[in-house]
Amino acid sequence: MKIALFDVKPYDREFFEKWNKKYNASITYFEERLSVNNAVLTKYYDVVCVFVNDDVNEKVLSILSKNGIRLLALRSAGYNNVDFKAAKKYGIRVVRVPAYSPYAVAEHALALIMTLNRKIHKAYSRTRDGNFTLNGLLGTDLHGKTAGIIGTGRIAKILIGILKGLGMNVLGYDKFPDEKAAKEIGYTYVTLDELYKESDIISLHCPLTPETMYLINYNSIKKMKDGVMIINTGRGKLIDTSMLIEGLKDKKISAAGLDVYEEEESYFFEDDSADVLQDDVLARLLTFNNVIVTSHQAFFTREALDGIVETTFNNILEYHNKQELTNEVYYDEKENRIVEGNLQKH
Ligand code: NAI
Repeated sequence: MKIALFDVKPYDREFFEKWNKKYNASITYFEERLSVNNAVLTKYYDVVCVFVNDDVNEKVLSILSKNGIRLLALRSAGYNNVDFKAAKKYGIRVVRVPAYSPYAVAEHALALIMTLNRKIHKAYSRTRDGNFTLNGLLGTDLHGKTAGIIGTGRIAKILIGILKGLGMNVLGYDKFPDEKAAKEIGYTYVTLDELYKESDIISLHCPLTPETMYLINYNSIKKMKDGVMIINTGRGKLIDTSMLIEGLKDKKISAAGLDVYEEEESYFFEDDSADVLQDDVLARLLTFNNVIVTSHQAFFTREALDGIVETTFNNILEYHNKQELTNEVYYDEKENRIVEGNLQKH
């Protein structure tokens, strides 16, 4: 199989080269993100492989289709960057990596919570500057506090287990509640309004869909506890950032840990340190000393990269061998929704 890999960073190449010793595919690495400007380069390949910020819109898909591409392999769990109706129209099947290391993302969410609560980011720079005072570093015990988890899937369940270990009460909200897991892990499903009202920390773990876009907005923030901490390792557009900023200015929100940002495509994974930051909203966010922005790195552990690459190869191999595609995602016209196949074979 000839695979064209887009948005390739040195670590992608390292892990693909490592696993390709087993799979022996022909891989071309493109550093650029896939776009209408370079989609033409996919001619003579069998599979196009992309990551979270490649914009796989209708135009791109039509070019891929003309070039004979029939499989788009996502190196991610999230798939909001793909136009699935267009993929169906142009006869391109889409596979993804539904789960690699849920621990990686859950542990990163925990890192954001811990850092913000105990102000480790401030203490780090303060002590390096010879300042050993404690003013402004006061935190709270997490033990006995309430965490509200929106979307209680794979990642969230790991995080909930960790938070329970800290002695927190956990409330969950999910469109499809998993009562069995709630009983086993020890959390309670509530309505969104109840979750907003009761939670000291709210962490987002649902996918970005038309329904969840701007879930955190003026009205939902208004319903939250004063001093709530908001953590987002899901997708940037789950939060209306301008409203988050208002909440931070009003001190309604005491802290925000953001691994994703609604306009991250322009910045995340790139080194723009020599340039002037053009995004005024991101610039404002970065002025708050109670906000931590990480550049979509929650997934970024060795175990997760191994998992992503191995599953991607297996997904491609299934296609090559004309087998059922375990991890296919597709648009179902009858139900008018995107369907996730996940037979959990790998
Ligand atoms: P998952 O599919 O196991 O869980 C998602 C959960 O959200 C499911 O329980 C589902 O029922 C629920 N859900 C769906 N629609 C909902 C709605 N409207 N309201 C509330 N809940 C809803 O997914 P997983 O693996 O736990 O990942 C969650 C999200 O995390 C992904 O969609 C992705 O966007 C993001 N992610 C971020 C990463 C990062 O590096 N920052 C890495 C991997 C995933």
